[in-house]
Amino acid sequence: MIALRLRDARIGYGDTAVVQGVDLTVAEGEAVAVLGSNGSGKTTLARGLLGLATVLGGEVEVLGAPVGRPRERGRIGYVPQRHTVSGAVPATVREVVGVGRLARLGPVGRLRPADRAAVRDAVAAVGLADRLDDPVASLSGGQQRRVLVARALAAEPELLVMDEPTAGVDAASQDALAAVLADVSATGTTLLVVTHETAALAGVLTRAVVVDHGRIAYDGPLAGAGEVTGGHHHPEGTGQPPARGYRQDQPRVTTDGVR
Ligand SMILES: Nc1ncnc2c1ncn2[C@@H]1O[C@H](COP(=O)(O)OP(=O)(O)O)[C@@H](O)[C@H]1O
Ligand SMILES: [Mg+2]
Repeated sequence: MIALRLRDARIGYGDTAVVQGVDLTVAEGEAVAVLGSNGSGKTTLARGLLGLATVLGGEVEVLGAPVGRPRERGRIGYVPQRHTVSGAVPATVREVVGVGRLARLGPVGRLRPADRAAVRDAVAAVGLADRLDDPVASLSGGQQRRVLVARALAAEPELLVMDEPTAGVDAASQDALAAVLADVSATGTTLLVVTHETAALAGVLTRAVVVDHGRIAYDGPLAGAGEVTGGHHHPEGTGQPPARGYRQDQPRVTTDGVR
């Protein structure tokens, strides 16, 4: 199955396109890095897949349906950029992550024992098992990022979109997150990860898409993206259609298991 299919997509806000001319096909199970300098349009592209930015033209299909259909509910996990968990209502780690699980159940859903176990597993997977009943406000910024990752994981989504999940997260946590993502990827979940830290995630993400001034400047193996992001030259293209299916066998990393 195809997880993402964009054809000549224009995505933006109001009537202003931020990204345009985007042709991108991601097969189910692929693990794709979205790279590019600040302001290039990475977040807008990611938000367009969630229905949070406006598709102004072209086609954007997510999990086989035009973006924004209710049937996607719970099938897509999203970790927004630069969000820590805050707000007036004090909530524990368990409660915040439980909200992710509720999204999967729909409006009248209620957490059952298996759902509560999935919440605990997701929290354990990001290394916060001992903080389950602590208020999220008592956690560091990096730990709060990990709570948001756990919230997305708890829904056991088919497609996981993460916008700079490792920003502000210490090196040990980055490695832990890489292990979690390897595990999730091994179960067949499609990953689209906006990141600058390709070193930490190089074992997980195999394909890279580089966004430059709102257009895709490179689509190919992660290892080959450096010359584009390095800024030395911006090739018009390789003369070949973007290859697909870079997914290689991932090492199975043992964690407390999201599934
Ligand atoms: N909510 C918004 N409304 C209007 N313009 C926006 C909005 N969010 C981002 N932009 C603009 O879109 C461009 C790309 O931003 P963004 O997608 O956040 O890039 P990146 O994630 O690559 O840093 C920027 O010029 C930014 O000002
Ligand atoms: Mg961004």
